[in-house]
Amino acid sequence: MVNVVLCGGSGTRLWPLSRSLYPKQFIKLFDNKSLFQLTVLRNKEFAEKFIFVTNESHYFLALDQIEEIGLSMNNVEFILEPVGKNTAPAVAFASFMVEQDQLVLVSSADHYIKASNNYYESLKKAKELAKLDYIVTFGIKPTSPNTGYGYIKADGFNVLEFKEKPDLETAKRYIEDGNYFWNSGIFCFKAKTYLEELNLHEKEIFELSYTAWKNAKNCSPVRIKIDDMLKIESKSIDYAVAEKSKKLKIVPFDIDWNDLGSFDSLYEVLEKDQNGNTRNNSILINSKNNLIIEENSRTIGAIDVEDLIIVDTADALLISKKGSGQKVKDIVSMLKTKN
Ligand code: GDD
Ligand code: MG
Repeated sequence: MVNVVLCGGSGTRLWPLSRSLYPKQFIKLFDNKSLFQLTVLRNKEFAEKFIFVTNESHYFLALDQIEEIGLSMNNVEFILEPVGKNTAPAVAFASFMVEQDQLVLVSSADHYIKASNNYYESLKKAKELAKLDYIVTFGIKPTSPNTGYGYIKADGFNVLEFKEKPDLETAKRYIEDGNYFWNSGIFCFKAKTYLEELNLHEKEIFELSYTAWKNAKNCSPVRIKIDDMLKIESKSIDYAVAEKSKKLKIVPFDIDWNDLGSFDSLYEVLEKDQNGNTRNNSILINSKNNLIIEENSRTIGAIDVEDLIIVDTADALLISKKGSGQKVKDIVSMLKTKN
């Protein structure tokens, strides 16, 4: 199994921790490890080879982080994109790189997943289905009508419908229906199955991605050329293939999964003290259920506060109510127009 790790996204909702040069998948949030590193460590048990598809500006960051966790470079390839065109082309580049019968596991680098027996059992089941030329998705039991996810209507391992990012009304209907899963953003297939489906449903993306790949493949690391990349339409694997393919299957994921889309979801997974505060060195009096992150050695003191998000970095400080974490991206847009 080859693990293709997609790590080209920028994630603006964890500002000021994440920046364009330091996106969320590389921030060391868990025991001094990043989500990217945890993804590799989790899948090392299962994959004999890794292909990292990322933006060229994150190459050295990613290299440093895989060296830190002691991954052998013999089994590692990089594909560097000059600009992101979302996941459909990124997955195509990696699929061109391997033997066409090779089984591929596509992972997002920005998910928090607790590796458990269930995780590996689901991967094993997916492998069986992928060998039969299916594109396997992994379904998470939904807990809210979140519109940032793909939804999969399932009947056993069969997929009746895949709908990417529905509107709120539709998402609510899906939750009431009870037969829908969230798409976890992880996929398993033979390289050729994905490429055939991409060619069938998005011929132009397939062909332009192939040209871009061919023009770049003789270098190591593979650097896709900007002129080739700019021609490709930006589309995710979910819209390009998952919504349209008749070859989709689903394996349920009974695991701890969180896509850390905001500080609110980060609070859910970080370790907390007996008062529900996450913190390192802060000094708190009569304060509870706060998310406090200090990236500096600067000490934070807080008195009589509840349900706050406080994130202190060298050049920016965020203070927000818990529950309003989705609005952090608005600050980032305001910052961009201000500068
Ligand atoms: N190399 C590369 N190039 N990677 C990319 C690019 C790109 O242009 N764009 C995004 N990625 C990476 C991100 O870093 C992330 O690891 C992964 O691909 C998924 O991209 P997101 O942008 O985070 O997708 P999403 O969260 O909106 O939606 C996807 O994930 C959801 C679960 O978290 C979809 O698959 C949904 O259906 C799914 O529910
Ligand atoms: Mg995501």
